[in-house]
Amino acid sequence: MDTSTIREDFPTLREENPLTYLDNACVTLRPDSVIEAVSRYYSEGPGCGGRSPHRWGSAVTQMVVRTRRAVADFIGAQRDDVIFTHNATAAINQVAHGLTWQKGDVILTTDREHNSNLVPWLQLERRLGVDHRCVASHQDNTFDLEAFEAACAAAGDSLRLVAVPAVGNLDGISVPVPEICKIAHDYNAEVLVDAAQSVPHCPTNVADFGCDYLAFSLHKMLGPSGMGVLWGREEALANLETISGGGQTVTMASETTLDFVPGPERLEGGLGNYAGIAGTAAAIEYLSNIDMAALHDHEVALNRVITAGVDGISGVEIIGPSNAAQRGGITALTVEGCDVHDLAIVLDEAGGILVRSGFHCVNGWFQARDLMAGSLRTSTYLYNTEEECRHFTDVFTDAVNALS
Ligand code: ALA
Repeated sequence: MDTSTIREDFPTLREENPLTYLDNACVTLRPDSVIEAVSRYYSEGPGCGGRSPHRWGSAVTQMVVRTRRAVADFIGAQRDDVIFTHNATAAINQVAHGLTWQKGDVILTTDREHNSNLVPWLQLERRLGVDHRCVASHQDNTFDLEAFEAACAAAGDSLRLVAVPAVGNLDGISVPVPEICKIAHDYNAEVLVDAAQSVPHCPTNVADFGCDYLAFSLHKMLGPSGMGVLWGREEALANLETISGGGQTVTMASETTLDFVPGPERLEGGLGNYAGIAGTAAAIEYLSNIDMAALHDHEVALNRVITAGVDGISGVEIIGPSNAAQRGGITALTVEGCDVHDLAIVLDEAGGILVRSGFHCVNGWFQARDLMAGSLRTSTYLYNTEEECRHFTDVFTDAVNALS
């Protein structure tokens, strides 16, 4: 990764004393091209897509079509079955509330889900009587395929949906998506992949995954806030009821007729976030020029530096395997005897280092293990350097010694 060239593209990294930004699993920095694309929409032609035939409207319509194709290409999809949403959470909610459920239908997830892939299922459980079950991970948080197979067998014909994170936001651990899909499909269940932490960091091909739905957010991959994607197999998407019926979703709606459009627009009611879609195009273009496999290796290399640097600090434990290669770009640390939020503030004030502290929206995992002090999490991206990681471990070591 040519980090020094890449860093030139990011306004916050061009500053004289740039902050050390290690909160990329939450939200990434944005390059000039994305910021400019968003701004250009407002300054040069803030029209509405799919409706007005004037020059601004037509330009936006074409921009949306091109962006849909670019996103589909980026995830290896042949068809443009890409729905623009507000974020991965909205994409998952579209599946949760767009499918038709029977009481007793089983939904399987892991036991280390982000709330976005947990709350919708809990809501369905309370509202409709579906049966949400968690598959326990191994002791080190890695996915237990045998336990998953046993959970599928126990659910039998009632298994309706498997919803898993390709990469966990808590620990960076990947799950074996193709194997999961194969097993789930043997039970005629569908598979939804929460890819919010994988699409930004490694090559993605939905055909290789073999999944039915894929959800991710643009703010975790250089794109604008308020943009996400739901990809689905053609037949799978066709089975979803729109949860935002309205303008653009129909060919005709009257007291006697309700005819929906056949394409992705059916699930995108109301005026779109066109500035966000323009920024999405720029983010996808930026990442299309990056070797995504090399990006993954770069993050693992950085994570090795962090892992080695925190190894042996008294009271500090890594969540998940000690081998950085199994945690991609993420390291979450529990710290005995000091408040992780205080630590995060000291890292910021003393070292200009920005990290996340707390439960990282995976509250249930911490509660189940009585780890209510939470953790401090670093997460890297394409512009981070080994020097920044060493800076983190130096300041972190001093801060832990001072606070505990
Ligand atoms: N999903 C985001 C994170 O893990 C918010 O930080």
